[in-house]
Amino acid sequence: MDKIGKDILFARRLILNNELVAIPTETVYGLAANGLNPDAVLKIYEAKNRPSFNPLILHVASIERAKTLVKDFPEKALLLAEKFWPGPLTIVLKKKNIVPDIVTAGLDTMGIRVPNHPLTLELLKSLDFPLAAPSANPSGYVSPTSPHYVMQQLGDAVAYILDGGICEIGIESTIVKMVDDEVAILRLGGIELEKIEALIGKVRYPQNKDERIESPGMMASHYAPQKKLVLGNMEENLQKFPGKKIGVIAFKQIGTSTGLRQNTNKFILSASGDLHEAARNLFSHLRKLDESDVEIILAELVPDEGLGRAINDRLRRAASQDI
Ligand code: TXA
Ligand code: MG
Repeated sequence: MDKIGKDILFARRLILNNELVAIPTETVYGLAANGLNPDAVLKIYEAKNRPSFNPLILHVASIERAKTLVKDFPEKALLLAEKFWPGPLTIVLKKKNIVPDIVTAGLDTMGIRVPNHPLTLELLKSLDFPLAAPSANPSGYVSPTSPHYVMQQLGDAVAYILDGGICEIGIESTIVKMVDDEVAILRLGGIELEKIEALIGKVRYPQNKDERIESPGMMASHYAPQKKLVLGNMEENLQKFPGKKIGVIAFKQIGTSTGLRQNTNKFILSASGDLHEAARNLFSHLRKLDESDVEIILAELVPDEGLGRAINDRLRRAASQDI
């Protein structure tokens, strides 16, 4: 039997057998197992080589299912869930005891979301437990946006990859946490800050590193290719690495600067300047350059609004050497 396919019943059987199955979501592919079974969840940490202090998020089919796993669902969190689920928003809430400690790395809170992908929703509806699923990449690397990328890196570790095509959003979910009565942003992703604030008013999103509400998995260096990635003004950076084979990721266009050598490997995120298209392309462009023979990847920031904020966050982490 092929390892990549659309057989939901087969995926279900494997999950019931405590095996690992890669699942499609609208954001990125997840590496899924029975979220209430500690042995199955342990396999996820092992396959990804994920530090044991970095908690996983749970995926469920509906708000009703989520309610069976959380201690309470504060009003603002419920408003967000009602508006954005199924969708790319993870909400960190107090967990009930039935959620094993290994899922949350010992925290008394857990991240939970309803993903918006028909295959995975059908799979979730057919199960009476949640699926724990981090992004289906080795810890620290770029998240996979197609079944092919999962196969390349975790093909041996998964029993099956449920093929839901290319991920529609292309970057991970936005993560929010209830802190006292306020909503704080832990990670920007597929739901824009502007959309959240339009619904519930100002949220906490400290730009200042020291004030940030830490999420255990948000290391400075993350989502990172193996090649060195240099972020900044493209025209300037193109002059800086004589003799090196350069790869370029630009937002709308690549300048006609003399610095752009004939054989430069070039990728445009969105020729029309559409941030959704840019988000969808980001990780596959990074992967293609990482696989190519370029020695250095040059990238530039995109406008810091809407999905652009999340794209810039990923680019900064990809460029960071600071682990
Ligand atoms: O879009 C997504 O969120 C994808 C798809 C598969 O759903 N999943 C994903 O999972 O990106 P992962 O594990 O790669 O990222 C989840 C992040 C981690 O940085 C983790 O530290 C944080 O969520 N997290 C999980 N539980 C948490 C908690 N209780 N408190 C704070 N942060 C938490
Ligand atoms: Mg991840």
